Amino acid sequence: MKEIIDLGMHGKSLLRLCDIEDWQMLGLVKAAIALKARKKAGLHLDNPLIKGKNVALIFQKSSTRTRCSTVNAVRDEGGHAEYLGKNDIHFGKKESVKDSARVLGRLFDGILFRGFEQKTVEDLAEYSGVPVWNGLTDQWHPTQVLADLQTVQETFGTLKGLTLAFVGDGRNNVCNSLMVGCAKAGVNMVDVCPEELAPEPSLVEYCRKIAKANGSEVIVTHDPIDGVKGVNVLYTDVWVSMGEEELFQQRLKLLSPFQINMAMCERTGNLKNGRLMFLHCLPAFHDNNTEVSREIGAMEVADEVFEAPFSKVFDEAENRMHTIKAMILASLL
Ligand code: CP
Ligand code: NVA
Repeated sequence: MKEIIDLGMHGKSLLRLCDIEDWQMLGLVKAAIALKARKKAGLHLDNPLIKGKNVALIFQKSSTRTRCSTVNAVRDEGGHAEYLGKNDIHFGKKESVKDSARVLGRLFDGILFRGFEQKTVEDLAEYSGVPVWNGLTDQWHPTQVLADLQTVQETFGTLKGLTLAFVGDGRNNVCNSLMVGCAKAGVNMVDVCPEELAPEPSLVEYCRKIAKANGSEVIVTHDPIDGVKGVNVLYTDVWVSMGEEELFQQRLKLLSPFQINMAMCERTGNLKNGRLMFLHCLPAFHDNNTEVSREIGAMEVADEVFEAPFSKVFDEAENRMHTIKAMILASLL
């Protein structure tokens, strides 16, 4: 197991997928697949890999998957995970991020951070002196995309040459990271979004260069009809990310034509031939069973797609744990 985790990342942080080599990213996905099999066989119980290591989880925003995946990934391998929510520590309030980082770096072997500004996670990495992992900022969500790539690889047996369309808020943290992840993996990426929610041109240009080297392309389109033709992976995320709640009504108007429903799935041309899957990082508004969606019902994805056999969202959610484990082991082993 140790050989597969040896990806030249020992002692290193993972703040953005841009910061690692293509082969390292693909190595993490491969390691996650091996770790998944190892856990299913119960082998982690005999030979935990990070016994005695302590990992801090600093969360300024809510989380189900990232938090629980990290806690279980660390515990599975004999380590201890300490959850530090937004009201639990002085971080950035009574104590500067720099000082908290220097303290936590003395107490923990690694830190996973979820919050707002990318600069905060960068400061944590700079001053703590231990590996820091980005569990979501306003700009990036790298650990999500590792799980997405694992799920695509498991479903189609390959990554290179497939086409993924992200449909929705084409400049959010998940979409930004997917663009980088797809480019590095040689997956064609179509960002299907309203003009007002287009990605940063500099990011698109950067990803196009990487994609070209890997034989794929990055396309940005504002057409939800033509944009999904030939697509193998339809991917979406909430229309309003954490911290943007006041934009709710505006986003509903802008994004309604971009809902992933069966009509859109049919337009891919791959619904009938088994070459289509649906992914969503979750949580999702696919029905009226949440406080937020009670009045509105489904938003970014219709319930019939969310619940369809080609929807792999719960495999994707499980894979968060295996990929986060791969990343932590790569840094700590
Ligand atoms: N996809 C994801 O990051 O989920 P959580 O917000 O529940 O962690
Ligand atoms: N874009 C979403 C992702 C949640 C996992 C958000 O930032 O809220």
